[in-house]
Amino acid sequence: MAKDPVRVLVTGAAGQIGYALVPMIARGVMLGPDQPVILHMLDIPPAAESLNGVKMELVDAAFPLLKGVVATTDVVEACTGVNIAVMVGGFPRKEGMERKDVMSKNVSIYKSQASALEKHAAANCKVLVVANPANTNALILKEFAPSIPEKNISCLTRLDHNRALGQISERLGVQVSEVKNVIIWGNHSSTQYPDVNHATVGDKPVRTLVADDAWLNGEFITTVQQRGAAIIKARKLSSALSAASAACDHIRDWFLGTPQGTWVSMGVYSDGSYNVPAGLIYSFPVTCANGEWTIVQGLHIDEFSRKKLDLTAEELSEEKALAYSCLS
Ligand code: NAD
Ligand code: LMR
Repeated sequence: MAKDPVRVLVTGAAGQIGYALVPMIARGVMLGPDQPVILHMLDIPPAAESLNGVKMELVDAAFPLLKGVVATTDVVEACTGVNIAVMVGGFPRKEGMERKDVMSKNVSIYKSQASALEKHAAANCKVLVVANPANTNALILKEFAPSIPEKNISCLTRLDHNRALGQISERLGVQVSEVKNVIIWGNHSSTQYPDVNHATVGDKPVRTLVADDAWLNGEFITTVQQRGAAIIKARKLSSALSAASAACDHIRDWFLGTPQGTWVSMGVYSDGSYNVPAGLIYSFPVTCANGEWTIVQGLHIDEFSRKKLDLTAEELSEEKALAYSCLS
């Protein structure tokens, strides 16, 4: 028997990530090849005509899984009945801007969209925040949608996770699918800590295979931390196809589960694991089963890593304070 359609909201759908993401969702990349979807696309009035053009293209693409499209500038209409909300809408960072520069613009957007989701989304709606500053936007959304369980609110660090996999695969000359269990700790920013201490290729530790601690503790980390800025410098636009693909990976693994023995990185509400302050949205290694994520416990954190986990937590605490100051 055919499955009931899942309603997926994409905010900022007329933007460049939106344009890459909606066809992926309609093709089954996010939820699987047998899961029908109804797309809800939200953008702001200046982008309404462009949004309508995206809707026209979705109709023209004749995706068999796509059972309906709502394209609107009305946040209530966009949020009504959605099972999944992918929050891409916001003000993107431009060349030379720090993420903090865009904080105040995004805090007010996430506050009002939180209320709309809380009132109008389907019960148990799961939320992925992509728009920067992603961790703190997700925290604002959590604070202003108190009836949505905190387990249902996450932010995207899977792009950073995938970037780390890509760097290791290139360095070792192995398929990216063979590299497992890297970790992105902390903020989706240049303080994030890409950690390979538990990563493997086959049954061998990445650290042994690479056999170059200077590279792993230096250039590898900064390359992953700075990759977003490098893409902006090269394209004069922030990453879009890789961000859309990572958003699909994030939701797919959350809903359909992570493979046995494999974890992924997700920005989730800290419960104090690994002595990360509770009350931040922080990227941890997680496994997923039955639509729930669980932080991987018991990994050894050496002194080098500890400092990096703490540094990115400090930045998130500062962002949290800055976000709250924008609210008053
Ligand atoms: P974009 O400017 O091309 O698109 C953003 C869209 O959001 C625009 O169409 C804009 O009209 C819309 N928008 C603005 N305010 C809105 C609102 N209140 N409600 C609904 N829509 C609204 O930007 P983009 O390149 O698609 O990037 C989107 C966001 O994703 C940016 O914040 C960017 O920094 C972030 N990003 C995050 C990651 C990640 O890994 N977490 C990766 C890449 C980009
Ligand atoms: C990215 O990581 O590509 C995005 O978050 C863009 C940015 O602002 O760095």
